[in-house]
Amino acid sequence: MTVRFAKRNEYVHKMRFEPQASMLLAEAENATEHAYVPYSGKKSAVVLLLEDGALIPGVRVDNASFSLSITALINAFSTAVALCRKDVVAIAFSHAMSLSDRAFIDSHAFGPFNRETERLLVHTGQMGIPTPGDPVDPFETATEDGPMAMARVISERAFIPESNFPVGCLMELDDGRLVPGVNVEHSEWPFILCAERNALGTVASYGLEQPRNIYLSSPTSDKATPCGACRQVMVELAPQATVWMDRGKGPVEKTRADDLLPGYFSGEALRRMI
Ligand code: THU
Repeated sequence: MTVRFAKRNEYVHKMRFEPQASMLLAEAENATEHAYVPYSGKKSAVVLLLEDGALIPGVRVDNASFSLSITALINAFSTAVALCRKDVVAIAFSHAMSLSDRAFIDSHAFGPFNRETERLLVHTGQMGIPTPGDPVDPFETATEDGPMAMARVISERAFIPESNFPVGCLMELDDGRLVPGVNVEHSEWPFILCAERNALGTVASYGLEQPRNIYLSSPTSDKATPCGACRQVMVELAPQATVWMDRGKGPVEKTRADDLLPGYFSGEALRRMI
């Protein structure tokens, strides 16, 4: 693999972060295979490097309603929060960072990050970075309480400096494995990802099949239901999934992803032959 670095940063980068940086960039390129990009065709991915060398991938997830698409960078960070891993030391991109990526990272609560090249960010103050290892296991260990109660406990991981409104989510795959999600907030609200979309994005990043059950919990509200954006993303990625909703002191209710958004926009006419 040829790694090209921005000229102005080449010296610093090679001195401080080689060969780990090249390995990390290669991981980001490999992660693109799981991108869900039926409309854009832009197979992009990001890999977060954690303090112990573990990795968290994030892929681009297109949506028929284009502006609801999840960027690889936001997908990776929201996965990290749901997996309780905020110790991000470096971020590698499969592609040159976009203006949106820069805006997201420049005011990110876990920063600051230095832009070493167009494809590599390193947390300020790092003198070196660890050798990239394996991806963090994204699965929750099932407890006797069942997935609905687990989703409520998982909501405590939400990163909610803006709203103080925790939402937890668990996606149950066909084989029973459970993938978590929480809402992850940012000072720029358009960059906020809800719990549902967080978990769906993680499922995509790890190349898993979309879920058959979605367990959602909003412990501080008796009435919350999935927002419109999450309904649109859920119905595209997991239309047949059963959605279980646990709200505050209210009873658990059950519905289906495609019943949550009657007459939804499927985006069929937009799909590319790729
Ligand atoms: N939120 C979710 O996580 N899921 C929903 O379906 C509704 C809204 C989050 C997003 C934001 O962090 C906070 O709740 C307020 O909108």
